[in-house]
Amino acid sequence: MFIIFHIYTMALNPTYTIHIIPKSCSDPSSWATLVAKQKALRLLSLLTAPESFSSTYEREIVFTWAEWEARLQHPFVYTLVAVKTPSASNDSALQDLIDGEWVGCSVLLDISRLSNPSSSKTEIAEKSNLAGTFEINGLFVSPEARGHGLGGALIEASISHAQGVVAQEGDEKVLVRALVRRGNEQALKLYGKMKFAARHDPTMANSMTNEDSIILYMDR
Ligand SMILES: CC(C)(COP(=O)(O)OP(=O)(O)OC[C@H]1O[C@@H](n2cnc3c(N)ncnc32)[C@H](O)[C@@H]1OP(=O)(O)O)[C@@H](O)C(=O)NCCC(=O)NCCS
Repeated sequence: MFIIFHIYTMALNPTYTIHIIPKSCSDPSSWATLVAKQKALRLLSLLTAPESFSSTYEREIVFTWAEWEARLQHPFVYTLVAVKTPSASNDSALQDLIDGEWVGCSVLLDISRLSNPSSSKTEIAEKSNLAGTFEINGLFVSPEARGHGLGGALIEASISHAQGVVAQEGDEKVLVRALVRRGNEQALKLYGKMKFAARHDPTMANSMTNEDSIILYMDR
């Protein structure tokens, strides 16, 4: 149930576009570029905003190439990036991804599928209250690109993509959540602006993350 990534391309202004990274690519050299750019941006995020994430630069710098590839290929994980191109571009989404500068990212997890990978949609709904739940992870905008709406656009594009995934299965209802570290005022303000609100989540009651993070749900 892969979704063609360029359908979800969203033009922001002449220079920035949000793309979803394809899970495969027929040209090995293009694929290698996508993997390398994803790796570079993720490591930059861990280096420049270590307090925002639960993982660390030291942990991920030693990841193998196969691990970076696996992140992009995972069937229930979608990586979105904000790409800066020199001018309004008529290039394909793939060409934009290859030629453009990646200045922001978010990772969308299909939590219901990740929790029950082999179950059907109905089984998931029966077994858990996670049906249709997605989580935005790893949201990052490089420091020089901040304040132009890219963080908000990445959140909005992630929500749209989650809605597209559930719509393919004939559902309308999607729950989108995010974990934000206590004290991360920029992210809390941004998610608040995007109409996310703190909500008790019984499925995460025993999670370590509850202590140092706030769980926000899209509340629209
Ligand atoms: C949080 C982050 C993604 C925002 O990216 P961005 O592209 O600057 O965000 P946008 O331009 O879309 O959003 C701007 C909104 O964010 C909030 N914001 C941005 N910078 C802020 C700051 N310095 N102080 C307080 N709020 C701030 C405001 O709500 C602002 O809206 P406003 O301009 O109407 O006041 C970026 O600061 C970042 O990458 N931070 C480090 C990593 C991180 O904390 N990620 C979140 C993990 S949950």
